[in-house]
Amino acid sequence: MHKRQIKEKIYWLGAVDWDRRLFDSLIPLPDGTTYNAYLIEGAEKTALLDTVDPPMAEEWMAQLDGVPRIDFVVSHHAEQDHSGAIPRVLDRYPQAKVVSTPKAKPMLMDLLRIPETAFVTVADGETISLGDKTLKFLHTPWVHWPETMVSYLEEDRILFSCDFFGSHIAAKRYFAEIMMPFRNAIEKNIEKLKAYDIQVIAPSHGQIYDRPAWIMEAYRDWVMGTPHNLVVLPFVSMHGSTRQMVDHLVSKLAGHGVCVELFNLAVTDIGKLAMALVDAATIVVGTPTVLAGPHPLAGYAAFLANALRPKAKFLSIIGSYGWGGKTVETLAGMIPNLKVEVINPVLCKGLPSESDFEALDNLAAAIANKHEKLNRTDQ
Ligand code: FEO
Repeated sequence: MHKRQIKEKIYWLGAVDWDRRLFDSLIPLPDGTTYNAYLIEGAEKTALLDTVDPPMAEEWMAQLDGVPRIDFVVSHHAEQDHSGAIPRVLDRYPQAKVVSTPKAKPMLMDLLRIPETAFVTVADGETISLGDKTLKFLHTPWVHWPETMVSYLEEDRILFSCDFFGSHIAAKRYFAEIMMPFRNAIEKNIEKLKAYDIQVIAPSHGQIYDRPAWIMEAYRDWVMGTPHNLVVLPFVSMHGSTRQMVDHLVSKLAGHGVCVELFNLAVTDIGKLAMALVDAATIVVGTPTVLAGPHPLAGYAAFLANALRPKAKFLSIIGSYGWGGKTVETLAGMIPNLKVEVINPVLCKGLPSESDFEALDNLAAAIANKHEKLNRTDQ
């Protein structure tokens, strides 16, 4: 890749990681990802904003050929996909200072062994002049780590937002997988950004937004909007009994006008499940009882939902068992972060009987009723 000018004296220089399929050895990246760094050539000083993931560093460093001097390396975020090549930049430009929040400094020293003398820390709202261009630094803790900040280039009205508003190509997937656990911090920081006239958002993953209203509105809805009339139903079935219950419940919910997104945990892309969780009002987990508890794949889905902290309001559990167990108690105990009301779990012995189907009918009606009330409250 070659560096590209995005405005006069402002360049994107980054790496496109077409082949990466997992982030943090966990999160699926079906379309790969990008690491975006930016170079700003002021009349007096030059700043490099972030770097790239270490495996891409060698190829990326070639984009700095012909750049005679870097005065500041701004590190918005200590995570290595953005900070990982800072040591190589400092090797080539030993006079450069690393600009970070006070919290990021010890993290960068621990993670990358950058010497303390290389740092200049900036307070929330502090500015650095590049001559004819001014970078203002805004602390945005917990978007995505405790030390994160963004920078606003005042003269060009560009927000360099790092992970905030980033995307692994699809913005909603990225929000669901990376940002959803930090909804409260995002809400506060979206409010903070209201004070700035932003013409361009240039994140450190994915596309640059030259009409930032779209992504900011989407974030507002994902973070603060009322949950949709939607049930997300991750399930696993071993011999078909739980599957019969799931199919019956889906059909009944549809009859009540409730949308359902179904995820067979044996084959699903957990990124898609995470995306569905962004909007869902209700989560229903379908699981057989195995060794006295939920199937491990259902346990994994519960662990994921608990970690992602979606805004769902209701939860239920359905499934079949052979001779007993504590499936409901175990699953319910795995989701302390979810502020949900548990609605009528339905467990049946072996194949579901007429009375089990009736219990599922009642569950569908109860969910539809709860969703209707939620919508009414929102109006
Ligand atoms: Fe893209 Fe939190 O690093």
